[in-house]
Amino acid sequence: MSLAGKYLLVTAGPTIEPLDPVRFLSNHSTGKMGYAIAGELATRGARVALISGRTNLAAPAGVERIDVLSAEEMYRAVMERFPQADGAVMCAAVADYTPAQVSTTKLKKGEGDLVIRLKRTKDIAAEAGRTKGGRLLVGFALETDHERDNALDKMRRKHFDFIVLNSLRDPGAGFAGDTNKITLMDAQGGIDEYPLETKSAAAVRIADRIERWFSDRPATR
Ligand code: C5P
Repeated sequence: MSLAGKYLLVTAGPTIEPLDPVRFLSNHSTGKMGYAIAGELATRGARVALISGRTNLAAPAGVERIDVLSAEEMYRAVMERFPQADGAVMCAAVADYTPAQVSTTKLKKGEGDLVIRLKRTKDIAAEAGRTKGGRLLVGFALETDHERDNALDKMRRKHFDFIVLNSLRDPGAGFAGDTNKITLMDAQGGIDEYPLETKSAAAVRIADRIERWFSDRPATR
């Protein structure tokens, strides 16, 4: 129970950005990686709040699940809790853009094409990074090209302590499916690349790293 006494947030799953009462923009995230991490952290004694977009998964034992839909709702749920937390793992696939206007009635089709204007969402991880103080912040990067450079850049920009990189070039890694192939990169320049393994095995590696991070530091808040 090495994480006993720690309060950790985990974001997971996709966000859903409404266009009108029946349509939305979203992505292929299943939430499996975030749920596996939340469960693993709880097994080690942490109090875990899992801030989850819409998924088909049951909350792991001992984890408090907070359901959200949009990026804005996820932002609020994280920011409400982050000041009390010892750290956060940002696993969610948050939409970067959301419809600038949400129609209150169903959009009607016309003869021609339809143009939808999108506006930027808030970057939850970056905002947490700005206010993290001594808290742990772990980010994810799902990349298709220049994987390591992009992940390093993300880690620095968002003030992550470490980042979990998955490449969509690796078969079996990323969104759907029960396996992942992760590379852990830390702010000190350490890089550990792991083989293709189950998402629960990858969650064990990430939780090990989180434990090590806390054991190197006496106080976090
Ligand atoms: O820049 P990019 O979206 O690829 O960064 C990925 C990391 O940032 C992930 O940890 C993801 O959960 C987090 N993120 C976030 N809020 C956003 C966009 C990304 O928390 N609006």
